[in-house]
Parts: sequence; structure tokens; C-alpha cells
Amino acid sequence: MKIIIHESYEEMSVAAARVVAQTLNSKPNAVLGLATGSTPLSLYEELVRMHREEGLDFSQVTTFNLDEYVGLTRDHEQSYHYFMREHLFRHINISPTNIYIPSGTTDNYEAFCAWYERRIVECGGIDLQILGIGSDGHIAFNEPSSSLGSRTRIKTLAKITIEDNARFFEREADVPIYAITMGVGTILEARKIVLVANGKNKADAVAQAIEGPVTSMITASALQLHRDTEIYLDRAAAGNLKMIDYYDWIQAKGPAAPTTEHWRADEAHAQGTDAAAHAAREHSRETT
Ligand code: PGA
Repeated sequence: MKIIIHESYEEMSVAAARVVAQTLNSKPNAVLGLATGSTPLSLYEELVRMHREEGLDFSQVTTFNLDEYVGLTRDHEQSYHYFMREHLFRHINISPTNIYIPSGTTDNYEAFCAWYERRIVECGGIDLQILGIGSDGHIAFNEPSSSLGSRTRIKTLAKITIEDNARFFEREADVPIYAITMGVGTILEARKIVLVANGKNKADAVAQAIEGPVTSMITASALQLHRDTEIYLDRAAAGNLKMIDYYDWIQAKGPAAPTTEHWRADEAHAQGTDAAAHAAREHSRETT
């Protein structure tokens, strides 16, 4: 796991957006896994800016969203279909046929979930998955007690998630109780994962996910089992990390291992020192 802490939400978002851009630059037909919520808003803004100003190309990209509320139509303002259209898709050159978002209104959820999983595999699997984290430690809508091997399915939202998301609805009673969500197992199959989190209210969940035990009580902790996960945090979200000095130190030192040039230079230096020490010993023997 790579933990990258930035001083502000904006800096954190730009850094995470750069990972998306690097992925698309090296693989223009990449498959992206996308998240909704307030956290990735600025990341999406930066992608839109990169598209407009730097020509970041989405024409061959395929996307799979993590989740959708059950019962909301795609035009409902709080549906994730609507969110994605407003905040990303209508601003970039993605082909509508390459966009996949779970349906909140299918009449056969079981068949839909199986099809969604199949579609991800048929498209080659997810190259880069973007994630947020809930204050209860969830990724997507994998609430506490979700199996760490779970696949796309219907999930009942936790009370804390309903309370957290009530800010987007007129009344708490309007927040849907069920969602269709990729499973933890589905997410762990992504080749690379970038999780973004900001704000003090995420600090507990972030600390438990990174430094706590792997547990279905904090489904983000399953990312500890993933080979290529990067966690982008702002300073507030990193506030409860015990090893924060270590993460800051790694970042300050630069993450790269020394190159062979470094080793060679070190070896030459050591040999030179040995030779100088030897000459000094010889000299002192001769002169005494
Ligand atoms: P938020 O949601 O970005 O709105 O905080 C994150 C999540 O629940 O995954």
C-alpha cells in the first residue's frame, strides 16, 4: 500500500487525477472503475480540465461504476447515473456505449448483477479502480459485515451511511435503503486501485482501513490484501494514522528504490575509502 498525504483536498485530487491520466496515456482503451460521492468531485473536475486543456482522451475508455441506489431512476437527481453524467460524462469524449452503471430499476436484480460481473470480465477487467471510503469504512456500498469475497449484489445500507447521505436528499426518509453494489471481491480484482479520502470525519475509518486488522467490519481494510493500492489523503483524513511520520518520510525521500547507479557509486565510494584506509595503515607502519 502506498499512502500519499497532501496538505489540501485540491492537491490530493490533482495527484489522484494524474494517476488516471497516466493510466490513459499508457493504455488509451483502459477500463476504469468509477466512484460517486463528494470526495471524487474535484478529481473529476481535474479530469475534465485535463480533457479540455491537455487533450486527455476518453474516446476508447470503458467505465464501470461501483454502485447505484435501488429505486432511483437514471434521471433522479440523486441517482449515481445523474451524478456521473453531470460531473464527468457530459464534459468528456467518452462513448455512451462504453459506460456501465448498475441499474437501480431492473426487475431482475440477480440476473442484472451476474450480467454486470460478466461484462467487467468481457471488457478485460478493471485497470484502475477509483474508490472513496465511508465513515463506517465501507468501499462502494459494502457495509460492515459484507463478505470480503462478495460480488455485485443488493446490499442494505447501514444507518450511518443513510445519515451521511441524507445531506444530499430533502429528508433522511428519502434516502433509499438498498443499493446495488460491486462486491469487495469484485473490487479486489482491479489491477490498480486508488482510494481518495478527505476531511476529519474520515480519519477514523482511514486509520482502521490502513493500520487496523483486515476485517469485514471495515471493508476498506481488505485493500491491505491488494498488490497495487494507492491511498490519497488530505492532512485531516490522515490525522489518526499512527505511522504518519513514516508515510511523510517516504514521500519526502521519494518512493523509488536506489538505482544501480546509486549502488555502483556507493560501492566505488566504499572501495575508495577502503583503499585510502589501507594506504594510511601502510604509511603509519612504515613510519613507526
Ligand atoms: P463521500 O462518500 O465521498 O460522499 O464522503 C464516500 C463513500 O461513501 O464511499
